[in-house]
Amino acid sequence: MKFFIDTANLAQIKEAQDLGVLDGVTTNPSLMAKEGITEHDNIMKHYVDICNIVDGDVSAEVIATDFDGMVKEGEALAELHEQIVVKLPMIKDGIKACKYFSERGIRTNVTLVFSPGQALLAAKAGATYVSPFIGRLDDISTDGLNLIAEIRHIYDNYDFKTQILAASVRHTMHVIDCAKLGADVMTGPLSSIEGLLKHPLTDSGLAQFLEDYKKGN
Ligand code: E4P
Repeated sequence: MKFFIDTANLAQIKEAQDLGVLDGVTTNPSLMAKEGITEHDNIMKHYVDICNIVDGDVSAEVIATDFDGMVKEGEALAELHEQIVVKLPMIKDGIKACKYFSERGIRTNVTLVFSPGQALLAAKAGATYVSPFIGRLDDISTDGLNLIAEIRHIYDNYDFKTQILAASVRHTMHVIDCAKLGADVMTGPLSSIEGLLKHPLTDSGLAQFLEDYKKGN
């Protein structure tokens, strides 16, 4: 299972990278705005800065919502750095753009996916990644994890190569449940990754080991 961090914050990306378990980064326009990254040139530079910190894929989202605009933006993003994956919204023109990019060997991430039918379309269009938003489904009393299970079932039925990127992950249990369900990737905040470290028996066990060592040394 690949671990992506879901932020545009360079310090957090570096911290996750330094842990040695990071496989990539996802961003979206809201995450970029949260870091105060505005205007075209700054945005493009920030994507390159992220690519220079991590070894893996970096999703960069288009702003256009029409086919021509998405193609123009996506091509410019893909040219920025070999690690860039073009993130496209799950709308009609987004699916057309996904097909366009997949035929040209440009990797894509179809985002804002909330149903198995949308995930099926993304796979048919040759998406590299599909991003079902599990946290946002949970927010409206709908089982986000069930969507991961449904997409896994459908993709396995037909051996689709599109990777299931569980997005809108909010906490460690989402990560563990996504792993159980066979999601290929999860993207979440740094806390959802670092939270996996924690267990009180690890802490008390280590304290005891160190205390016992000190007795004889
Ligand atoms: C990542 O690709 C998504 O944009 C992100 O996971 C959305 O997360 P949120 O629902 O916490 O905003």
